[in-house]
Amino acid sequence: MLLHIGKLRFFDANMIPSRIFLVSAFRVLEEGGLRGLLDLLRREVQSHEASILVLDGLVSVEETAGSPREYKKFIHELQAQAALAACTIFLLTGTPSPPIAVEHTMVDGVMQLQSELYGRRAERHLEVYKMRGTGYLRGQHSFRITDEGLVVYPRTEALLRLPSTHPTPNGPPIETGLAKLDRMAGGGFPRNSTALLTGPPGIGKTTLGLHFLSRCDEDCPGLHFGFYETPQAVAAKANALGMPLSGLVEREHVEILWQPATEGILDEACHRLLDAVRRRRVRRLFIDGLEGFERLTTDRERLGHIFAAITNELSALGVTTVYTSEADLIGSVSGLPISQLPLQGVSCIAEIILVMRYVELRAQLHRVLAVLKVRDSLIDPAFHRFTMTSTGITIDEDASGAEQILADAAHQHNFSNLGVLRTSRAGQN
Ligand SMILES: Nc1ncnc2c1ncn2[C@@H]1O[C@H](COP(=O)(O)OP(=O)(O)O)[C@@H](O)[C@H]1O
Ligand SMILES: [Mg+2]
Repeated sequence: MLLHIGKLRFFDANMIPSRIFLVSAFRVLEEGGLRGLLDLLRREVQSHEASILVLDGLVSVEETAGSPREYKKFIHELQAQAALAACTIFLLTGTPSPPIAVEHTMVDGVMQLQSELYGRRAERHLEVYKMRGTGYLRGQHSFRITDEGLVVYPRTEALLRLPSTHPTPNGPPIETGLAKLDRMAGGGFPRNSTALLTGPPGIGKTTLGLHFLSRCDEDCPGLHFGFYETPQAVAAKANALGMPLSGLVEREHVEILWQPATEGILDEACHRLLDAVRRRRVRRLFIDGLEGFERLTTDRERLGHIFAAITNELSALGVTTVYTSEADLIGSVSGLPISQLPLQGVSCIAEIILVMRYVELRAQLHRVLAVLKVRDSLIDPAFHRFTMTSTGITIDEDASGAEQILADAAHQHNFSNLGVLRTSRAGQN
């Protein structure tokens, strides 16, 4: 046991045998039965004044017991000893079948550890079945075994059932980093709100997020939480677009966290995000790629609940959040009306929705942007044309450019449909 545990970082060899005592009880159990084991445990707990006793291998006790009654009696007496000595006892055993075993009804708490397969990926879970006198979180919680030992990630939606603090007062709207976008959104984003930014790849979502973070300073720290780009790639993009992000990162006004969505635990990502927000009292949060969360779970049902819980928590913490979601490239290019928004559950939660689209016109792709909704604000709902320049996103002052492109694209679209119609008629004839 020492050989294996010695590799874990929390292990301190100096604790043995000054603070931790290892006793092998196998022979005593073989020779003296349950009575002998009880005596041994009492003596050891007393002589060391132990406050915690871990009995590993309860199953051997059960096997040695002559009858279920004798086994019950053993647990009962052990509990009585523990109460007298003010010692907490952990009884470790394999998963009994049937799952509600005799000891479950007698002890104060029951916890089960399990490993479950999702496709080929395995995830560990911890579930508390019973814990007398506490309001424990029910359901399965993910955990990992790392060099640090056991790390548990309580179910996010259960942990944040209610926000952890009182809501922060709203105050005036917050600047988005693009003056024109502020005007389109009715004066900026409402403070402590959540904005969903959706659009196809390469349209400028990450860039808009970088504009948003460029407004960070000492009093208004920011966090870039992304699933796609490494911190180096994000910094390089900001540099190429002439945004002062590197300086802000150096002065610790902005932190860039990368959360690869390859192999991970959904709740771990949520905890990492919330930890980073709380640690630096983040005010501006940019989450790049909501799909990243989706890829970390097979249980899509949970996502809506988790996003709702996180959104409430962030709002209470005084964070204004912008998150991006990848939209369908084809649907957007065809010039058809805005197709279904991705991640339905999330669009209902978002208080602000921004749509970025390509418009295809005579072999050219144009970019347009519109604000669909902003909580409690009068917005300018028109599409505006924008371009990517060496200083990032530049939005047209008036909507006429977008109007013209969209009208021409619609015309071109109808015209080509007409063409299809004619050909099919010709085919019928
Ligand atoms: N490092 C860069 N240098 C120059 N232009 C860039 C750079 N990164 C992105 N761009 C331009 O900005 C556009 C939008 O990029 P990005 O904001 O990453 O889009 P999205 O996040 O929507 O996929 C790209 O299509 C490209 O034209
Ligand atoms: Mg991007």
